[in-house]
Amino acid sequence: MIPALIVVHVLCVVFWIGGVAFVTTVMFPMLQKMDSSFEQVMTFQRVEHRFARQVRLYLALVGLTGGLLLYLQGTHRLLFSTQGLGITLMLLAWMWYFLVLLFERRLFKALFGRPEKFDTRKVFRGLAIFHWVILGLSLLAVAVGVWQGHGGAL
Ligand code: HEM
Repeated sequence: MIPALIVVHVLCVVFWIGGVAFVTTVMFPMLQKMDSSFEQVMTFQRVEHRFARQVRLYLALVGLTGGLLLYLQGTHRLLFSTQGLGITLMLLAWMWYFLVLLFERRLFKALFGRPEKFDTRKVFRGLAIFHWVILGLSLLAVAVGVWQGHGGAL
């Protein structure tokens, strides 16, 4: 049971964080080079909207398998301790994405609702930085999780 849960957990993480890495390292540099701000906003919204639908599924599966793993292995006791740093970072990353998806519509409205009020270049620079931060946190969670999961001490 436990190996099967880890397989599903990690496969979902691969699709999910792989997608975030693609958006951050390929899509944003491409968007930032576009001349038309209308084209920028439309392309971004189409890609993010489609990806957000997939992320909802990954979020549910990763949360479910991660929660079951914690419960079955009794490792919930390690949360917020040095020994459990990997799983704590996973939980924080998961909660961060959960909040972003929860407020996705409002965020999009605030960012793109009144294009005449904002400098689109600045908005995209901010969004690119935001994606780098969340990608960094996700990769840190993966790195520390794998390190500690395979006997690495901190
Ligand atoms: C509610 C959120 C999450 C919980 C409760 C959770 C919990 C867990 C647990 C208990 C394990 C098994 C660790 C072991 O037995 O050694 C695990 C493995 C793993 N998790 Fe998570 N996780 C969550 C979210 C995430 C996220 C968001 C990521 C990626 C950013 C992630 C990446 C991984 C990876 C790569 C492993 C495999 C580690 C290994 O090599 O054994 N998890 N997770």
